[in-house]
Amino acid sequence: MNLLRFDSEDAWVAGVANLWRDRLQTNPRLRLCLPSGNTPIKIYAAMAQSVKAGQVSFRDAEIFALDDYGGLAPDDAGKCVNMLRRHLIDHIDLPTARFHFIDTDASDLARVCREYDRIIGDGFDLTLLGIGLNGHLGLNEPGSAPDSATRRVEMHASTIGASANYLNHSNLPTWGVGVGLKPLLGSKEVWLLANGAKKAEIIRRAVEEEITEEIPASLLRKHPNSSLFVDAEASALL
Ligand code: PGA
Repeated sequence: MNLLRFDSEDAWVAGVANLWRDRLQTNPRLRLCLPSGNTPIKIYAAMAQSVKAGQVSFRDAEIFALDDYGGLAPDDAGKCVNMLRRHLIDHIDLPTARFHFIDTDASDLARVCREYDRIIGDGFDLTLLGIGLNGHLGLNEPGSAPDSATRRVEMHASTIGASANYLNHSNLPTWGVGVGLKPLLGSKEVWLLANGAKKAEIIRRAVEEEITEEIPASLLRKHPNSSLFVDAEASALL
């Protein structure tokens, strides 16, 4: 795993956005898997700005949402699909049909998951990921098998607690559906993103402790083309 450290959060945002523009310019048909959450918000704003400035286009790209919570109203501001729309999709030139997300309200979830994996097909060119305080990747909680498919997951207590960051009510989700480690680790390139002091300890464990399913992010160290983008605070314990 390549380690890219930046002196400030602003430099970290600019560094990720620069490389992302580069990947899109090299391959306009880039197939991306993208997270919601707080980590990528400023990076998405930078990419939206780049589209507005005519520096880059998502016209021929394809975006897959990494995961989503179950049991929330479809228009809940904290649903991952709505966060992704609000922070990125609504501000870029991606055709509607090229944005894929998971319908957690479907009666047959197993079928929805199979279909998502089918559309993912040959896989992602580039996957961006945040990291949970327990080392999770999307909804791949500690203990997830490296060959796991897209599936329904019961969330761990810390993940349920973290969901409160995105909701404007206290009816926290307890389960969700997330892209599995198999398609994520099968992505041609993976970028793990972390900023802020809160992430410093789990980043240290993911980078320096043994590679184990108990810290899903540590599995990225075996990926042939993975990079960790960290600001000064998130890398303070490395
Ligand atoms: P965050 O969430 O980006 O809001 O910190 C990351 C995660 O839990 O995967």
